[in-house]
Amino acid sequence: RPVSIIGVPTDIGASAIGARMGPEALRVAGIVEAIARYGCPVSDWGNVTGPLNPQRGPVDGFRHLDEVAAWNRTLHDAIFAELEKGSLPLMVGGDHCLAIGSISAVARHCRERGHKLRILWLDAHADFNTSAITPSGNIHGMPVACLCGHGPAELTGIGGRTPVISPADIRLIGIRSVDEGEKRFLLEQGVEVFDMRYIDEVGMRRTLEMALDGVDEDTHLHVSLDVDFLDPEIAPGVGTTVRGGPTYREAQLCMEMIADTGRLGSLDIMELNPALDHRNMTAELAVDLVESLFGKSTLLRLYQS
Ligand code: ARG
Ligand code: MN
Ligand code: MN
Ligand code: MN
Repeated sequence: RPVSIIGVPTDIGASAIGARMGPEALRVAGIVEAIARYGCPVSDWGNVTGPLNPQRGPVDGFRHLDEVAAWNRTLHDAIFAELEKGSLPLMVGGDHCLAIGSISAVARHCRERGHKLRILWLDAHADFNTSAITPSGNIHGMPVACLCGHGPAELTGIGGRTPVISPADIRLIGIRSVDEGEKRFLLEQGVEVFDMRYIDEVGMRRTLEMALDGVDEDTHLHVSLDVDFLDPEIAPGVGTTVRGGPTYREAQLCMEMIADTGRLGSLDIMELNPALDHRNMTAELAVDLVESLFGKSTLLRLYQS
């Protein structure tokens, strides 16, 4: 399946600015060439555009709501068009509020084509805040809640249906920073969370087996990778680091097990902030992981040879 790269250069949903440079840093680190190396035809469609970041404070619990909605509407249309062409869209961000637009497009595509949807949300954070419980007003802390129908109409109805997804469609993995109100809301809504304690106790292998349980040949698998999922020792180039994340080996295993399903249908790589990085090492790590996601493995597998 041909891969279509779409850059989304904005930090409109975050506090720290700099994620607007994420798409270029990933290109400089060789993301296009890396995917091509594993046999996928890949096109880089450049960047979508949207409003500048006005760096205002929160209004009624949201920072930049209108601007966030504008970026996400544009993005929905771009990603939906790629899915309709039969491509695998790869959104390079940009902060994580943009997953509202990409996943709204993916969910609409699945609905119209009768595919099952499974989303793997790889993140240090649950991103399940609402305007009532957010400590920051930053919308990159709210996309999962918005997708599940909890949020303002301009964000919950993109793509023509609210809610866009049900909690049963998503698995949160790598979580280690959840706000107080957010903890209660996750439990109340029945969101399945594989937090770092779970990964410590059962290992990445069992975690992925559980998170992928039920994925079959009719399933469209969407991966939303927030780069702060990774331990900050190996991935310092993000705005909201939380220590104690997956190691290089654990992250590679996670990507390889996703690749083994053969069901990857769309991907977001989010929150890379080159202004906070060292010599582009976090972008290079993300590209390294993307190679595994697109089938790089140490040895040949029977089904590949
Ligand atoms: N939970 C915090 C908040 O709501 C941090 C969210 C960080 N999200 C992210 N996509 N990096 O502000
Ligand atoms: Mn399809
Ligand atoms: Mn995060
Ligand atoms: Mn996130």
